Amino acid sequence: MPGGSAEPMYEQISHSLLNAILDDLRPEIRRQDLRHFYTRLGANFYAIHSLFVTLYGHRDDFKLQLLRLVETMARGYIDRSPDLESLDIQREDDYNWFLSQKWVGMAVYSNGFAENLPDLASKISYFQELGINMVHILPILMCPSGKSDGGYAISDFRKIDDRVGTLDDLRRIADEFRKRDILLVLDIVLNHTSDEHEWARRAMAGEKHYQDYYHVFDDRDIPDVFEQNMPEVFPESDPGNFTWNGEMGKWVMTVFHEYQWDLNYANPAVFIEMLDVLLFWANQGVDVLRLDAVAFLWKKLGTTCQNERKAHLILQLMKDCCQVTAPGVLFIAEAIVAPTEITKYFGEDAIVAKECEIAYNATLMALLWDAVATRNTRLLCQGLKSLPNKLERATWLNYVRCHDDIGFGFDDSDIEQVGYEPRAHRRFLIDYFKGDFDAIPRGLTFMPNDTTGDARICGSLASLVGLESALESKDQALIATAISRILLMHGVILSFGGIPLIYNGDALGVLNDYSFYADPSKCNDTRWVHRPKIDWAKAELRRKPGTVEHTIFSAIKKMITIRKEISAFADFNNRQILPLENDHLLAFVRTNPLRPSELVLVVANFNDQPRFFDLDSLVPSVFSSHDGLVDLHSGRRPSQSGSRIVLQAYQFCWLTKT
Ligand code: GLC
Ligand code: GLC
Repeated sequence: MPGGSAEPMYEQISHSLLNAILDDLRPEIRRQDLRHFYTRLGANFYAIHSLFVTLYGHRDDFKLQLLRLVETMARGYIDRSPDLESLDIQREDDYNWFLSQKWVGMAVYSNGFAENLPDLASKISYFQELGINMVHILPILMCPSGKSDGGYAISDFRKIDDRVGTLDDLRRIADEFRKRDILLVLDIVLNHTSDEHEWARRAMAGEKHYQDYYHVFDDRDIPDVFEQNMPEVFPESDPGNFTWNGEMGKWVMTVFHEYQWDLNYANPAVFIEMLDVLLFWANQGVDVLRLDAVAFLWKKLGTTCQNERKAHLILQLMKDCCQVTAPGVLFIAEAIVAPTEITKYFGEDAIVAKECEIAYNATLMALLWDAVATRNTRLLCQGLKSLPNKLERATWLNYVRCHDDIGFGFDDSDIEQVGYEPRAHRRFLIDYFKGDFDAIPRGLTFMPNDTTGDARICGSLASLVGLESALESKDQALIATAISRILLMHGVILSFGGIPLIYNGDALGVLNDYSFYADPSKCNDTRWVHRPKIDWAKAELRRKPGTVEHTIFSAIKKMITIRKEISAFADFNNRQILPLENDHLLAFVRTNPLRPSELVLVVANFNDQPRFFDLDSLVPSVFSSHDGLVDLHSGRRPSQSGSRIVLQAYQFCWLTKT
C-alpha cells in the first residue's frame, strides 16, 4: 500500500503507467474526444491505481487487467449521452446538490405499485401529487420466474425482465423523470448472480474461467472452515452458506438463497464486469445506483465475511471509476449492519464521502420500531446518541419500512445502557410485533434461527402499527391511534436529516397482503406479506375526506410540502439530539447551516398518554424566550403553559419561532 515517504515515487509510477495505458488504448477509443474523461482520469488515477494494486497487485496479469479497467471506463464515457454528460458537469459544480431538503424518495415495485413499466410511467402524476422526486424502482432485471428472490437473483444484468417491460420503456421513464426533476434509482446486485446467469451456467459446464467468477470448492474442507464464522442470512429456507452443484461436481458459496451464487471479487475480471454493468445503467439515465448487499462483497476465512476492509476498497474503487465516467451518479449503500459499521460505507479516514454518498439508515429505522413497541424512547435516544457523525457530502436514506424484513440490529451495549438484557429485549420485540402481548400489531416472523434464537419481523407499516386490527374491530379510537403512529414515524424521517424514503403503499395505509401463502414460490418468505399489489380503485379514496386513505395521504403530503420549505432540514450534520427528562419523548434540534438563528425543534411523543417537557430544561437552550412559538407541521401554536409544552399521545411537532 502506498503511504508515507514512498508516496512521491509511487505517484510517478502511477503516472508513467497511465501514459503507457493511454498509448495502449484501442485505436477506436483513442480517436474519440475524451477531454473531460482524461481530466477526470488524471485526477483519480493515483487513487484508482493504488486501490487496484492493493486488491490485485500480486497477480501476473495485473497490468493487463488495469488496461481493461481503463478501457471499460473509456467505453462507458464514450457511450454517455451529451445530456447526461452536461448533467454530470452541472452536478460537479453544485456538488452538494443531493443534501438539500427538497428530495423525498419512494420505493416501488414496477409490478406491484403498477402493472409494469409502461403503467408505472402513467403513475408519475401520483408521485408529483405527493411531492416525491426520487423513485427507487425495485429490481426489474431478468430473473428466473420462481427462484428470483423478488428480483435479486439476476440472470442477465443488461436485460429487463420481459414480464415488466423493455429497455425502451425504462429509457422513456428516465426521460420523463428528468423532465420533471425526479431522480431515478435502480439496483445493482453486486454480490451475486442467479444460478441461471450465463457465467454460472458456463461454470457448471466446467469452464474454469467462469468457475473463477464464483467461490467453488471440490470438497467441504474450506467451506467447513468458512462456516465456523459465517452467520446465516436465510437460516429457515436456506441454511448454510454453500450449495452442492451436482452438474459441476463442486460446492459453491451461496450466502443468500441456494440459487444465488456469490461473486468472487478477488478476481479482477469480476470487478471489471460489474463496473461495466454499473456504467451501463448509469448511461441509461439512472441517477442513483442502489448497491445491494455491499457488506458481503469480500469473503475471508476466519471472519463473518461481512464488512471486511476489502469490501470497502472494492466500493471505493467503484466510486473512483464511476467518478471518471459518470460523476453525476450517486451510490446508495444497502448495508443493513451494526450502527458503527454502517457509517464506514461513506468511507473511512476521510473527510468527504469516498465510497457511497448515501446509506440506508437501518439504525434509525430499527430504533423507531423499538420506540413503537416499548412506547418509550430510551433506546431510541441512546442509539441515536451513539450514531457516529457522517462525513461531508454524505447523507442518510431515512425510512420506516422497505421491501425487506425489520432486524433489531442495535448495539448490545446501547441496549444494556438503558437497562435491558439484549437477548430478552430482542425476543420481546419479536413477540410484540407478532401480536403476543396485545392484539394490535400484525407482524409475521421472518427466518427464525433455532440455533441462535434470532428472528426478524415482516409486515406492512399499517398492519404493524395496528391499522389492520383496528379496522377489523371498527374501533375509531384504535384507527386514529394507528394513523397517528404512521404519521409520527414519518414526522421523524422527514425532519431527521437525509433523504426520506417512503415505501410503496405506506402513504395510503396499505395493509398486509396474505395472498403469498398460496404461491409456492413465495410462501416460504414472509417478506411477501408487505409487497402487495396496490389497489388503485381504493387508492382513489385519498381524495375523499373522512377516509383512512385521505387522512394519511393528505397528512404526509402536507409534511412533504412543509419539509421542502425548511432549510434547517437539509443535511449538513446540523442536528443535535437533546436529552429530555421524559423518556417517552424524542427531541432534536435542526439548524440552518447558513443562518444558525433559523432553527427547528423536533419533538415526538411515542407514548399512548399525553406527555410534556420543559423548554427551560433543554440543554443547550434552544429558544431565547417562550413566546411566539409555532408548530410548522400543524401551523398552530403548541399546547403550552409558560415553559411547559404538552404533546398528545403519538403527537409530534416541528417547533420554531415566528
Ligand atoms: C438485499 C435486498 C434483499 C435481498 C438481498 C439479497 O438485502 O434488499 O431483498 O434478498 O439483498 O440480494
Ligand atoms: C440483507 C441484510 C439482511 C436482510 C436480508 C434480506 O442484505 O443483510 O438483514 O434481512 O439481506 O432480507
